[in-house]
Amino acid sequence: MKNTNQNTVLITGGSAGIGFEIAKLLSEKGNHVIITGRDKERLKKAAAQLKVVTPINCDVSKEKDVYLLVKRLRDEFPALNMVINNAGVALVYNLVDEEANAFSKAKDEMLTNYFSVIRLNELLLPQLKKQKEAAIVNTSSVVAFVPGISLPTYAASKAALHSYTQSLRLSLEDTNIKVFELMPPLVNTELSKDIGGANGIHPSQVAQELFDAFEKDKYEIHVGNTANMYELFRSSPSEAFKRMNPKKEQVQVTN
Ligand SMILES: NC(=O)c1ccc[n+]([C@@H]2O[C@H](COP(=O)([O-])OP(=O)(O)OC[C@H]3O[C@@H](n4cnc5c(N)ncnc54)[C@H](OP(=O)(O)O)[C@@H]3O)[C@@H](O)[C@H]2O)c1
Repeated sequence: MKNTNQNTVLITGGSAGIGFEIAKLLSEKGNHVIITGRDKERLKKAAAQLKVVTPINCDVSKEKDVYLLVKRLRDEFPALNMVINNAGVALVYNLVDEEANAFSKAKDEMLTNYFSVIRLNELLLPQLKKQKEAAIVNTSSVVAFVPGISLPTYAASKAALHSYTQSLRLSLEDTNIKVFELMPPLVNTELSKDIGGANGIHPSQVAQELFDAFEKDKYEIHVGNTANMYELFRSSPSEAFKRMNPKKEQVQVTN
């Protein structure tokens, strides 16, 4: 990106975790940041800690909320030129558990992590096309390359997002819109607390690596240990799968 300041940036799910750290860094760097979230109180508290910020209560999985958000962005923030699709949900369960309810869980995860991203991007493309330089960031995960079986349908939703992001990037190749994919490893946030997230990297590292990637126009961002896992996956997909899913007695979380 030519400019990493003076942008108008929408961050879905900017009230906690990775989204909050991205909002913090980008607002400190002189960008106007709009953050969304479902919990109004949490959103208000997050906004109070940030510099140039507008909080908007919006559930990305709800059509009505998204239409209202898009209208407000068009009316009040015509200069919007960056969209960071960060809001996500991860459900930990065992596919063979009789109580798993896998279909229902997969539907929820695909709605938030995949379909909602497609809807928001599609609705915002006309506005982004009007800007001198624009960017879309889709947040997938290391599990887009190598699934972790404790998050079976979450991993599938991120693999779908990875595939869609590659197509979107090529489709927009000759336009003003750059398409980034942020691929974190295990990060210490609320989302990962049931899969050993306390051993993960700090979410501010993810924000910093995204910022560095903006400066270099590096489109696929293999944050922290994602880079190693990607290399292993390229040389030996089966070894990478084993590393991601160690036997219980070998469990070891690294970053
Ligand atoms: N943590 C990790 O280990 C990790 C690793 C790789 C990738 N990621 C990805 O990084 C992204 C952020 O994850 P995180 O770990 O920072 O999660 P987090 O700490 O749980 O924060 C999620 C944020 O998204 C918001 N959110 C959740 N569902 C939403 C919805 N339907 N509509 C609008 N906002 C919503 C939450 O606020 P409300 O609950 O108030 O809505 C919160 O602000 C996700 O896409 C996740 O898949 C995380």
